[in-house]
Amino acid sequence: MRIGVLTGGGDCPGLNAVLRAVVRKAINDHGDSVVGFLDAWDGVMDMRTMELTVAGLAGVLPRGGTILGTRRGSPYDFAHGPQRVKENLATLGVDALIVIGGNGSLTVASRLHDEIGVRVVGVPKTIDNDIEGTDVCFGFHTAVQIATDAIDRLHTTAESHDRVMVVEVMGRDTGWIATHAGIAGGATAILIPERPFDIGDIASAVKRKHARGRYASIVVVAEGAMPKAGTMPQPQYELDPFGRPRLGGISSEVARELEQLTGYETRVVQIGHVQRGGTPNAFDRVLSTRLGVAAVTALHDGVSNCMVAVRNDDICLVSLAEVVGKTRYVDLSLYDNVATVFFG
Ligand code: F6P
Repeated sequence: MRIGVLTGGGDCPGLNAVLRAVVRKAINDHGDSVVGFLDAWDGVMDMRTMELTVAGLAGVLPRGGTILGTRRGSPYDFAHGPQRVKENLATLGVDALIVIGGNGSLTVASRLHDEIGVRVVGVPKTIDNDIEGTDVCFGFHTAVQIATDAIDRLHTTAESHDRVMVVEVMGRDTGWIATHAGIAGGATAILIPERPFDIGDIASAVKRKHARGRYASIVVVAEGAMPKAGTMPQPQYELDPFGRPRLGGISSEVARELEQLTGYETRVVQIGHVQRGGTPNAFDRVLSTRLGVAAVTALHDGVSNCMVAVRNDDICLVSLAEVVGKTRYVDLSLYDNVATVFFG
């Protein structure tokens, strides 16, 4: 079999570990060949490729980013784009595609399967951890660790100056990173999109904390967090070239309001793309490896239009139809019953 593989959407720690696993399993166990498409779907459209070999992938396991490059965007943005994908795959002799991506890339994969018969298996990737059908996405645990490490460092400077630190983390429309890093980092409050917040309640939590001693607070804000209507101005975002709100900056609004309501000096820290960069942690290396191996096995079992996923720590297959167009939100029992216990 000749397998094509691409990495799509925002990058994420563990992408290279998946590629390495795909190549090892496909070539060593099945005698396949593997071609990587550069810059996601752009490489499929323009036939820009890199032959992936066992020797060529030596040393990539701990390396962050993706050796293939990645882009947002889709063949469906172009007239006859899907047809071009089909023709190019035929020209290159590619029998099936492994698509390592988030919601956007997996949606494209599913449509290519349904509409023009491309054989596809997806691998769920995103630090946001918001893909339906899997208990966890690779990259998430590394991002949480990076955010937690940052919060740990912010505690000591916040305490020294007796300040409030408002820390903004990624996650798009979900609060997975915020909830986990906030609990792990001992946050005084955690604001997530799933639970619109009242800034007055957050100010009260910060004051309660201060009332117990001269100790600073960390407030963790997910980039997609939203205030309850009428409590403070709603954030406004520009759209990116793909029509998605370019999130980022809610922490500044939160900090301004908190400083006014509490009178405590407040600073803002946006961790930003640091969360996506660098080496995957051990958990994500193992998960990426398991998923890459499973994707090749699935193709050899004749599977298509599925995603390899994790459920109860087992690797399984989920139909892409059950995944695309959906968002997996934070486990609210974790937020409501655990995280909030430590607010204030
Ligand atoms: O989807 C992953 C993600 O890192 C989000 O958390 C964030 O909103 C977005 O990508 C940032 O995208 P970009 O790298 O295009 O700025």
